[in-house]
Amino acid sequence: MAAVAVVGAQWGDEGKGKIIDLLAQEADVVARYQGGNNAGHTVVVDGKTYKLHLIPSGILYPGTQCIIGNGVVIDPFVLWDEMENLVQQGVDISGLKLSENAHLIMPYHRVLDKLEEAHRGDKKIGTTGRGIGPAYVDKVGRIGIRLGDILDEAFLTELLEVILPQKNKEIQFYGGEPLELGKIVEDYFQIGQKLAPYITDTSRLLNEAIDVGRKVLLEGAQGTLLDIDHGTYPYVTSSSPIAGGATIGLGIGPTKIKKVVGVVKAYTTRVGEGPFPTELHDEDGEALRNIGAEFGTTTGRPRRCGWFDSVMVRYAVRVNGLDTLAITKLDVLDQLPKIKICVGYKLPDSDEVLTEFPTRLNVLAKCTPVYEELDGWQEDTTSAKHLEDLPMAARRYLARISELVGSEISIVSVGSDRRASLKLNSIF
Ligand code: IMP
Repeated sequence: MAAVAVVGAQWGDEGKGKIIDLLAQEADVVARYQGGNNAGHTVVVDGKTYKLHLIPSGILYPGTQCIIGNGVVIDPFVLWDEMENLVQQGVDISGLKLSENAHLIMPYHRVLDKLEEAHRGDKKIGTTGRGIGPAYVDKVGRIGIRLGDILDEAFLTELLEVILPQKNKEIQFYGGEPLELGKIVEDYFQIGQKLAPYITDTSRLLNEAIDVGRKVLLEGAQGTLLDIDHGTYPYVTSSSPIAGGATIGLGIGPTKIKKVVGVVKAYTTRVGEGPFPTELHDEDGEALRNIGAEFGTTTGRPRRCGWFDSVMVRYAVRVNGLDTLAITKLDVLDQLPKIKICVGYKLPDSDEVLTEFPTRLNVLAKCTPVYEELDGWQEDTTSAKHLEDLPMAARRYLARISELVGSEISIVSVGSDRRASLKLNSIF
């Protein structure tokens, strides 16, 4: 048995937390491979709500090992809060393991994230302000601090003596106040001592688990269109949410990934700036936002909402090598009389219909969607357990999506509760 990767196939917020939670019932190990506390999963179990930003939702199953891989950027204080909250809610976190090579979000990353956004003015990205981008910049610039580094106070001091003056210069360039070395060393060494029992070589752990045939889930955060290479650059996050990111972010070879599951919402949402061809500015958009409770888990920002974009998801099928889809929030469409699917894009002054996703931002920004309109079902789907329980129009909608994007569908989610899911094919 090899590993199964679960990735977002839109702009994030596809409901990966719910799908991971569902699949984690069968898994032995859940490993997160990129992003940081820019992500947020809400998992509802028996009416109890858990909000997670860093720790894989598999932690809610006793005995499941949960790994935060080297590709994740960790704000250690946020992580510690999340660990404490889970313990207070009665969750056993002894199965949590943290990669010693994961890079840390430092105080200057949070400061720079906000200052850089302000500097961009109307070209701002709309980041979550958590310091994610600046932390990845330092990782690639080879001036990052890793989780293992904060276990040794003298070594941490040595590193920061070189790095901090450079970071303070950047902060001052944007008009901010420089930070003090002693306080950072003290805070990070102390939090390192608390996290120490959980820190290890997670690549080794994970490879051993795969080799002995344990069921392993690889959890992506954000989504394909936010990928630093394959997303709508520069309106992206600074990591690789696509399936390929799992190998780098966890230290496993690509041959270990047996299946890739793409999670998509039955419509489309986006937070932050950047082009979004099917965005709705009318009452349909409002309805999707209100019925779907489309407000960010991390920042509370209202999400931009629009129709399902099959051109974009077909692109996600390609760059991830998706084997199958999990469709979430189908129930949000329950009361709509008509539902649209984007099947192509038009450019101004041209009759040509593009059916391949344009990767140049200035082309994408000019695209207007070409829609196909389907009848809604105007029936409640939230208690459906099997495909046959869904109204015919809902089944037609799913079949059309599957045909257009070129991928089968294995899971359909019709509500936030763990049980509100239809499993059409097995994943492991
Ligand atoms: P950053 O990841 O905070 O640098 O933000 C970069 C872009 O990614 C912004 O448009 C954010 O709104 C978006 N983003 C980051 N994390 C998430 C997420 O978990 N869901 C949806 N959008 C996200």
